[in-house]
Amino acid sequence: MVIKAVKGTKDILPQEVAQWHKLERNALEIFSRYGYREIRTPIFEVTELFARGVGDTTDIVNKEMYTFEKSERSLTLRPENTAGVVRSFIENGMSRLSAPVKLWYKGPMFRYERPQAGRQRQFHQVGVEMFGVKDAAADAEVILLAVEYLKSLGLNDLEVEINSLGCPKCREEYKRKIKEVLKPEFANLCEDCQNRYEKNPLRLLDCKVESCKKIFEKPEIQRVIRSDYICEECAKHYSELKNYLDELNVKYVENKLLVRGLDYYNRTVFEIKSNNLGSQNAVCGGGRYDSLVKNLGGEDTPAVGFAMGMERLNSLLPCPDEQKLDAYVVSNSSADAFKLTQELRNQGFMVEFDLSNKKFTKQLEKAAKIAKYALILGEDEIKSNTVSIKNLDTSEQINVARNEVPKKIG
Ligand code: HAM
Repeated sequence: MVIKAVKGTKDILPQEVAQWHKLERNALEIFSRYGYREIRTPIFEVTELFARGVGDTTDIVNKEMYTFEKSERSLTLRPENTAGVVRSFIENGMSRLSAPVKLWYKGPMFRYERPQAGRQRQFHQVGVEMFGVKDAAADAEVILLAVEYLKSLGLNDLEVEINSLGCPKCREEYKRKIKEVLKPEFANLCEDCQNRYEKNPLRLLDCKVESCKKIFEKPEIQRVIRSDYICEECAKHYSELKNYLDELNVKYVENKLLVRGLDYYNRTVFEIKSNNLGSQNAVCGGGRYDSLVKNLGGEDTPAVGFAMGMERLNSLLPCPDEQKLDAYVVSNSSADAFKLTQELRNQGFMVEFDLSNKKFTKQLEKAAKIAKYALILGEDEIKSNTVSIKNLDTSEQINVARNEVPKKIG
């Protein structure tokens, strides 16, 4: 029986790799320009890191982790990378560095979710984390960076949504109010919402189940959801963020229902969405997480960051044209073709020749499909130490001395 890739995983095939290189190249270039340095953390970590980091009321921790035992330790394939970067930040004493410490990463993440368009079980993220700054300028810079990165890929028409979740103090009061107003509806909520009601009532707000959405539309519930519950200090931080974004000309919409699916956030949360992605429409998610470093055993350090789904970014980019070879050597003498090919490769050209002794005309046909020039080495050319160069776009052909070839095809 043929063995197939595991459900929810995908090969990235050679014809797709150029696009991945572009995502990675632009990340390196743009994130470096903003002072971020790349960090590569392990793909698996102790399970406790995610339980404490991402939060044990989240779907990610409760339902979606790939967890396994080795030598009596529970290990988990990383479902996201903020927790891993924070672990590394603490373990490597990065709080001693002068703030802000700016780190970026890319790589595979693993979540046992129901696969669908734009949602895989192994997927890739590119992301940034900034440590050490409380001020809303940091949140604004991180959001601006996300927008600039997307622009560099030609993605200009995406919607930035922002919200403030307040601090643990003001959020408690909000949670209490939400629970109170939803109490009479408890029996009508979906199972997930019933489970979250006690532990994390804020997450109810972004439930996608139709019957729950209907309940949340009731005016008395909307009044609570849309109330301005955040405390004065959090409100100031949020309004400073909006001022910075306005000054920087970053367009955004405010979405009171944006709560994000990870527990570590406080104050700013944001997502960047596309209308061309169907139901899995978020290309980027992020926010501030001022308690996480301390919760994971480090010094009290404010932080903010984002991650983008690379598969989703790729699906928004136009397919690049296949790259053509600089030249294809056409000859009945494999040895001569091999030698010329190698001379040109050593000078940096992308050149191939026929390794399987096909007929001359077949070789020419192949050259026309995959190369810019055919370099013809017939008997005459070999005798006179020349090469006939055929431009495969215009069909023009010239005969030049062998050492002239690089100049002519360069
Ligand atoms: P997240 O919203 O869980 O946030 O994921 C960020 C992005 O990863 C999503 O917007 C989406 O584009 C992509 N993504 C998530 N799950 C999948 C999936 N199953 N298949 C394909 N793409 C997916 C985080 O992971 C946070 N660590 C972001 C962050 C960084 N917050 C602060 N710093």
